[in-house]
Parts: sequence; structure tokens; C-alpha cells
Amino acid sequence: MARIGLLTGGGDCPGLNAVIRGSVRQGVRQYDDQFVGMRHGWAGVLAGEGKPLGAAEVSGLLTRGGTILGSSRTNPYRDGGGGTEAVKAGMEKLELDGLIAIGGEDTLGVATKLAGDGVAVIGVPKTIDNDLAGTDYTFGFDTAVQVASDAIDRLHTTAESHDRVIVVEVMGRHAGWIACSAGIAGGAHAILVPERPFDLNELCDRIRGRHARGKNFSIVVASEGAVPKDGALSARKDEVDEFGHPRLGGIGAWLEHEIERVTGFETRMVVLGHVQRGGTPTAYDRILATRYGVGAIDAYNRGERGMMVALSGTKIVTVPLSEALAEPKLLDPELFRTAEVFFG
Ligand code: F6P
Repeated sequence: MARIGLLTGGGDCPGLNAVIRGSVRQGVRQYDDQFVGMRHGWAGVLAGEGKPLGAAEVSGLLTRGGTILGSSRTNPYRDGGGGTEAVKAGMEKLELDGLIAIGGEDTLGVATKLAGDGVAVIGVPKTIDNDLAGTDYTFGFDTAVQVASDAIDRLHTTAESHDRVIVVEVMGRHAGWIACSAGIAGGAHAILVPERPFDLNELCDRIRGRHARGKNFSIVVASEGAVPKDGALSARKDEVDEFGHPRLGGIGAWLEHEIERVTGFETRMVVLGHVQRGGTPTAYDRILATRYGVGAIDAYNRGERGMMVALSGTKIVTVPLSEALAEPKLLDPELFRTAEVFFG
């Protein structure tokens, strides 16, 4: 029997509530654990603010998007954040034995440091971007790809009716997993990802080539983190979060203007933005998130510490947080090669 704080940090993601439900249901049923839901990620831990979570509180959560706990990008290790001591003080106030941290690179980066300082913590890999190492998939990614490919399907028909180029900007800060996967599923004619700075003239030649063959429309899918080779577009460095990440966005608008200028073809752009993160998770994400939630509490009760639950093939396993957080998981070049077969 343990008293465990659950927190969700960073950008929200479909499936967060399913993880919370999975952990609480398994912990209460199997181990007689008690749970406290921390408000707004690390902010709630630092403030020692949380509410009890039992089977009744997590009932009906499986299909619900967002997070009932709220989320934030609060970083305990920012200047003046208080670091490990402040986290331990918040945990003491709520008499917590340990934490389940559900988050991406930032939230789990904090969890890694805490684990190094002796805090009992287990991580759960969340991000629609799918850029966390140590696991085959993060939950939320499948939903984001489904939303983006549904949108591309719709944009396809309107692009064709109007002989237009349509640029679709999708999320993906460091990695092009969403762009590449949704681009393959939606039959994109070009995909731009952060891992491969692109040449604007090559892109425009490819679009011209399609038009010369009588295909008078094109779909270009671009990750928000994609950049032109000549560095003509840079992120807004003036607006950074507590983890030092700039707010991205703008590649779609830039491409709309540049493609139309270079090719003369009428071009429109759509930014899918937070639509990809909202709403109900797909069946795949509900199952994965549930397995992660149950797996995290099993790992905690086996006495594992400083570990992250992960998907390896078809199995839920645990890997050291320090290994999972060492490097981001960039797009698999083989997946991109498959996408390229259909370019132009
Ligand atoms: O980290 C996931 C993510 O969806 C990124 O792709 C994106 O850059 C970021 O979150 C945007 O987050 P927000 O606008 O909510 O701060």
C-alpha cells in the first residue's frame, strides 16, 4: 500500500485521462494504493496542491480528451523554481510516498532529475509528437495522425476542385512523425520534416512537375518544426517556455506565400494546431494509455524507481528514464523513404 501523486505535464494529449483511470483502478484494486491528483503538473507538486482520486473519480474517463488534472509547462528547475527540495516539500505536505509523472521530454526530464535525487517516481511517455526514445510509441500520436489524415483527405478534394496547392501545417517540434505518417496516410505530394531542411526551389520544381503532367493540384504537409535550408525562416526566439522551447508555427504561412510567388500557382494553407491534441482518443490510444496506466502502477509496486513504462513490440516493458530521455527519437529514415515514393 502506497500513497501516490499522479501528475500530467506539458501539452495535453488524447489518452491522459485513460492513463489516470488505468493507474487508479489497478492501484486501488490490486495494491490498496491511495492516489492524489496533482493540479497542473509540477505546479501542483510544488504548491502541495492535489485532490484525492479513487475509483469513483476516475469513472467515465476512458474516452474523455484532455486531462482532468490540468497541465502546465512549469519547470521546478527553472531559476527560482526550488528544484528537488521544493518538490520534496510539496510531496511531504500531501504525505506522498511517490509520483507517477505522465508527460513528454520536459515533464519526464524533471522526473529523471528527481529520480537521481532519490524521489520515487515512475514515468509514462506522452506526446502526440512520438519523439520520446525507449518506446515504440507514445500515446496520443495515433489520434493526432488520424485527425491530420482526416483533414488531408478533405483538403485533397477541395485542392483538386480549385487547382490549388494546399499546405497543411501539423505539429512536430523536433521530429516529423506526425507529418510523415499523416502524409503517407493522406497521399501527400511533399512532406517537410524538421530532420531534413528543405530546398524551396526543389519543392517548387516538384509541384511544377506534377502540374506539367496534368495534375493541377498538390498537397504539401509540413511539420511546424520544418525549416528551409537557407535559414530564411526562424522561430520566434522571444517567446520561450520555462524549458526554453520557442513557440513554433509560421512555416505554413511562409510556404503559402513562397510557393505562390515561385510557381505562380494559387496556394492556400491550413494550420491544424491544437485540433490534433483535442478530443477523444482513438481506440489504439485508449488501449495503449490504459496499458501504460496499469503498467506504471505495477512497476511502482514491484519496487521499480526512476523507470518509464514503454511499448516494445507488443509488450509493455520498463526502461530507465535516463536512457529514454538521453536523445529525442527522430523520424525513422525508412518511413520517410516510403513516403518519398509518392512525392511529386
Ligand atoms: O510537445 C507537443 C506539442 O504538441 C508540440 O508539437 C508543439 O510545438 C507544442 O506541443 C505546442 O504546445 P502549446 O502551444 O500548447 O504550448
